[in-house]
Amino acid sequence: MASVPSLAATVNQRVADALSAALPEAAGADPLLRRSDRADFQANGMLALAKKLKGNPRELAGQVVERLNGLDAEIAEIEVSGPGFLNITVTDAAIMRTLTARAADDRLGVPLAEQPGTTVIDYSQPNVAKEMHVGHLRSTVIGDAVMRILEHRGENVVRRHHIGDWGTQFGMLIQYLIEHPHELDHKSDGQDSQGGEGSESGEAAMSRLNRLYKASRALFDSDEEFKTRARDRVVQLQGGDKETLDLWHKIVDESKIYFQAVYDKLDVEIRDEDVVGESAYNDSLQQVVADLESSGVAVRSDGALCVFFDDVKGPDGNPTPLIVQKSNGGFGYAATDLAAIRDRVGNLHADTLLYVVDARQALHFKMVFETARRAGWLPEGAARQLAFGTVLGKDGKPFKTREGETVRLVDLLDEAVQRAETVVREKARDLTDEEINERAAQVGIGAVKYADLSTSMSRDYVFDLDRMVSLNGDTSVYLQYAYARIQSILRKAAERGLTPVAQEEPALAPAERALGLHLDEFSQTLEAVAETYEPHKLAAYLYGLATHFTGFYEQCPVLRAEDARTVGNRLFLCELTARTLREGMALLGIRTPDRL
Ligand code: ARG
Repeated sequence: MASVPSLAATVNQRVADALSAALPEAAGADPLLRRSDRADFQANGMLALAKKLKGNPRELAGQVVERLNGLDAEIAEIEVSGPGFLNITVTDAAIMRTLTARAADDRLGVPLAEQPGTTVIDYSQPNVAKEMHVGHLRSTVIGDAVMRILEHRGENVVRRHHIGDWGTQFGMLIQYLIEHPHELDHKSDGQDSQGGEGSESGEAAMSRLNRLYKASRALFDSDEEFKTRARDRVVQLQGGDKETLDLWHKIVDESKIYFQAVYDKLDVEIRDEDVVGESAYNDSLQQVVADLESSGVAVRSDGALCVFFDDVKGPDGNPTPLIVQKSNGGFGYAATDLAAIRDRVGNLHADTLLYVVDARQALHFKMVFETARRAGWLPEGAARQLAFGTVLGKDGKPFKTREGETVRLVDLLDEAVQRAETVVREKARDLTDEEINERAAQVGIGAVKYADLSTSMSRDYVFDLDRMVSLNGDTSVYLQYAYARIQSILRKAAERGLTPVAQEEPALAPAERALGLHLDEFSQTLEAVAETYEPHKLAAYLYGLATHFTGFYEQCPVLRAEDARTVGNRLFLCELTARTLREGMALLGIRTPDRL
C-alpha cells in the first residue's frame, strides 16, 4: 500500500522548488498548477506572487523556466505565456511512470487519511409501518456512497439508521391490534405462507401493515371511544407495558422485513446493528430535558420546553422556537435528535456527525445543532446536514403518481429494472435469461443510483427513466458499457497470450496522454470528494474517464496496434482504466458487470 503522488503534485513541487531557488522570498508559494488545454498543465501562481513582491511576473516565470528547462525528468517543455503563466508539457515517460506506480498498488495509489477520525453518518431512515418513497431513495443512495468513500479513506465510520419507530401513531396501531388480534397474521397472502424470502415476503409484510394502518386510521377517525383508547395506549407504550411493547415489536419487525426487501432490491447493505431508531433514545429524553432546563438553554413557554433563536422567526415576526418537550409532557422529533447527538459524541466518540436528510428539514437541524452546541454537547462545526433536494416528476413538481400519491420506491425500482432489461436484451444476444435478469438489475439499479449521485445533492432532479437507462450521455450504463468493453478486450488479449505491460520509453498518441493524465487524477479526486462529501464529483470524474477511454478506443487500435510493445502498453492503459472505473463505481455503490 503506497500512496502515489499525482504528476500534477510532482510538477507543482518542481515549479515551487525552482521558484524559491530563483527568489528566496518566494519560498512556500503555491505555483497553482492546473490541467490546461494549451499544454498538459498551466501554472499561474507567478502573477499574484510577482505582484506581492513587486516584481515582473513574466521575468519571474522566465527564471523558473531557465531552471527547469531540460533539467527535469518529468517536464518535457515549459514556456512563459501571456502575462506570466507557465505552460508545461510533461514527458510520456513520466506519465507511464506514475501510472505504473498506481497499477502496482491495490488502492491505485490513493492514500489513506493521515489522521482518520470517527464519523457517525445518519442515513436511510424510513418510517415504521409506512412505505419507503423517493426521499428515502436519496437518503439511502447518497448515504451509502458517502459512507463507502469515507471508509475507503480509512475513516472510522459508524452508520446510524434513525428510523421512525416511535410516536403517537403507534397507540392507534397497537390498540387496533389488541382489538383485532389477527390483523397482522400471514393470512390470505398466499405466496409467502411457507416463509418465502426476499421481495415477495417484503411486499406481503408491507401490504399487511398497510391494511392495519388503513383499518386503524378509519376507526380512529370515526370512533371517539377508540380514539380515547388509542391515546391511552400511547401512555402504556411509553410506560413500558409488556403486552403493548410486544405488539410494538411485532409491528417494527414486520417493517424491517419490508425494509430489508427494498434494500436487497436496491443492492445496499444495511446491517441490523446499525438500525438505531428514535425509540432507542427513550431513556435519555428526561435527562436531555432536565439538562437543557437547568442550564437555561431551554425555557418553559406556555408549558412547553423551548429553545429560542434570534434569527429564526415565523411569518408573523415572532420567534419560532425548537420545541424539546410539548406542554403535555410528550417528546418529539427534536428531543430524540438531541439525545442522539449526546450518544454519538459522548459514547461513540464521533468527531464528525453527518445527517443525510431532505433539505426541507434544514431548519430543524440548524436549531438542533445550535441547541446542542449551546448545551456543550457538540463542538462547533462538528455536525453537518448533507441536505438533498427533491426528486421531481417530468412536470417539474415533486414526484407523485397520477393519482397524486407519493411514489412507492419499490414500484420505481421495478420499473427501472424492467427498462434496463429491454436495453440489455437488445445488446446481448448470447446471454441466458438468468444472465439477462442479473444484468438488468445491475444496470437498472445502477441507473437510478447514478442519476441521483451525479447531480450535486442539494439540487432537485427530474426522475426520468428514459434518460437514466440511455446508452449515451452521462449515465451509469455508459460507464458500465465502457467497463464491459474493456473486459472483452482483455479477454481477447488473454486468449492470444497478450499481456498488459507498461512501456518505459513510450511515444504516446494524444488520446493516450489524455487518458493517462486523467487516470492519474483518481486519487486527488477521491481526496476532494471525501473532504467535501460530494459524490457527484466522483461521478463526473468517472464519466470523464469513460469519455477519455472512448476517445482512446476510437483513435488507438489496441490488439491491432503496430507493434507488440504498443499493444502491451495499450492493454496496460485498458486494464488500469477498468480497475479505476470499477473501484470508482463501487464507491458509488454501482456494479460493473464483466459482460453486457
Ligand atoms: N424518518 C425521517 C423521515 O422519513 C428522517 C429522519 C432523519 N434523521 C434524523 N436524525 N432526524 O423523514
